[in-house]
Amino acid sequence: MSPPAPAEQAARAAELREQIERANHEYYVLDAPTLSDADYDRLFRELRALEAEHPELRTADSPTQRVGAEPASRLEKTAHLAPMLSLDNAFTPEELRAWETRNARLVDEVRAAGYVAEPKIDGLAIALTYEDGVLVKGATRGNGAVGEDVTRNLRTLRDIPLRLRGEPPPGRVEVRGEVYLSLSGFEKLNQRRAAEGLATFANPRNAAAGSLRQLDPSVTAGRPLHFFAYALEAGEARLPVETQWELLERLRAWGLPVNPLARRCADLDEVLAFVAEFEALRASLDYEVDGTVVKVDPLWLHPELGVVGGREPRWATAYKFAPDLAVTTLRSIEVNVGRTGALNPYAVLEPVEVGGVVVKLATLHNEDDIRRKDLRPGEKVLVKRAGDVIPQVVGPQLEEGQARGPEFRMPDHCPVCATPVERPAEEVMTYCPNSACPARIYWGVVHFASRGAMDIRGLGEERIRLFLARGLVHDVADLYSLDREKLLALEGFQVRSAQNLLDGIEESRGRGLARALFALGVRHVGETAAQLLARAFCSMDRLREATVEQMVAVHGIGRTTAEALAAFFAEPRNGAVVDKLAAAGVVLTEERAEPVEGPFSGLTFVITGTLPTLTRTEASAFVERHGGRVAGGVTRKTDYLVVGEDAGSKLARAQELGVARLGEAELLALPERLADAGGGPPAAGTPLELRL
Ligand code: IVH
Repeated sequence: MSPPAPAEQAARAAELREQIERANHEYYVLDAPTLSDADYDRLFRELRALEAEHPELRTADSPTQRVGAEPASRLEKTAHLAPMLSLDNAFTPEELRAWETRNARLVDEVRAAGYVAEPKIDGLAIALTYEDGVLVKGATRGNGAVGEDVTRNLRTLRDIPLRLRGEPPPGRVEVRGEVYLSLSGFEKLNQRRAAEGLATFANPRNAAAGSLRQLDPSVTAGRPLHFFAYALEAGEARLPVETQWELLERLRAWGLPVNPLARRCADLDEVLAFVAEFEALRASLDYEVDGTVVKVDPLWLHPELGVVGGREPRWATAYKFAPDLAVTTLRSIEVNVGRTGALNPYAVLEPVEVGGVVVKLATLHNEDDIRRKDLRPGEKVLVKRAGDVIPQVVGPQLEEGQARGPEFRMPDHCPVCATPVERPAEEVMTYCPNSACPARIYWGVVHFASRGAMDIRGLGEERIRLFLARGLVHDVADLYSLDREKLLALEGFQVRSAQNLLDGIEESRGRGLARALFALGVRHVGETAAQLLARAFCSMDRLREATVEQMVAVHGIGRTTAEALAAFFAEPRNGAVVDKLAAAGVVLTEERAEPVEGPFSGLTFVITGTLPTLTRTEASAFVERHGGRVAGGVTRKTDYLVVGEDAGSKLARAQELGVARLGEAELLALPERLADAGGGPPAAGTPLELRL
């Protein structure tokens, strides 16, 4: 034991820490150094010597602790104070204005509230936990709820303060922001790696992610990573500011780097003016940006506006730059077989970088789509990527007078099981009709285990492939006959991982009839139809005995769905799977739920297309919460059709029948409108649009 340090030495250490951190702040955050490199080194060496002599003086916020931590064996998981959200996108001024309109329908004050426009840094979101102003933890976003603890790596970033300056917030807060690699740093890093014969990084974002997730902090320390702060999560504690703009100022006052280009805007016109200026600046920035994040300025409006699906807040949106384009060669068009037997064509491309990622594959939807775009293997094509949206093949890029290759044709046999394929009249998709096709079984199991279906924890695609390959699983019901012994005989399973998976499978038995029915993956039986059928029949047995007519009698179930379901049960293979599920103790019954009374009582809604912010389930829940019913198909009994993007035949049918149509925003505003109009169910035969 070394004797306690005399008071002067402790005071000197504190003084050195303060001087060095101030120098770091001036150099890395303010970009205005006042200390020479030599003086900085002198102070640093003195502090290190002092700490070596008196280890008890080595505090967690000492600048010597930025480097030199031992490599870790793995990155630990760590939970965030509150979910780290993602953002919805807007690509055009119209879409940006539509965002405001939707918000203003929910909360009137939005229009006059003002915005903050911030550069959207293309890096990695992280959360820094400060406890009484001292950095105690740094984590990656992970899945939004739980990230990876990269504290030791983040400590190596000189622009991240180890202790907040000025008046730091008391207690525990999370500062959120983006870690990124400068473009110049990225170039240098890649040159160095190439010289060392190492693989180069595809783009700064990947390089930043790789650098941050290192087990050895000294590797991270050698990478030119930087940070911009843009948000604060104070948990239950009250935020010390009223607006996003004041928050940015406060973060800056605490010594955190805040992007200097962020601007307070009175309205969307000013936001759009900012975007134009910012776009012109883009090429001169030493970091990658993919657009502007627009945030409603007053913080009190944020909880009022809320979060869509627990993922995307309504109070912020990403206004993305125009999509990135690239030209490459279409090597071939291949075909995958999906769960329903649908043949899904996709493009195999000469790898090409588009907007910062290397694209090798792109989906092509269907045969007609390929014909319409006139894509032919061997030719040059234009590839488009808009933000984080999936890459698309736009069309051929032909030279003048170029001879064309042969037109694409769907294979006439299933590429997996060789059964002759079928293309039903009026449909754009081609199908493999063999329900025992290995590809169909594989995707069927993947669907069965997926989130909205049986949600089997720990059962991913890789494991499903393994079970099928080893003959342990031939259909979805076989999952319930997996046991410890069978799992432990496979590579990659230990006692713990086997037990976790078995627990996940066990847990899934009780999801109920609606989920189980949806999980079976019957064509046309989506989540909504499954819920309606489960509610109407209450047990799988009753549903199996039901005739098509009895199913159609259920409000919201159309003939196509009913016939598909009847055909499904008529196939012996499927009946056997259902029997096996029942024998395995999977719950195939449902309790009847009490209907809610509300402004939508007596009204029937149908939802079609992709809504701008709500998922299908959320929209249905909204309707039901207000007393309404959601049906699957449009009939004369439908009161409203809620229309999203890419609406198809349901919209046409609604127009034909004169059914009232609503957008998402109108749906959200409807309870109030109905209440204003006196409420109650509509008088029979009155066109709704008139009555409102
Ligand atoms: S706000 C709701 N502000 O963009 C809060 N995000 O697409 C979401 N990003 O995960 C974050 N710059 O990684 C915000 N100025 C900025 C941003 C920003 C970049 C990233 C962030 C987020 C992603 C959402």
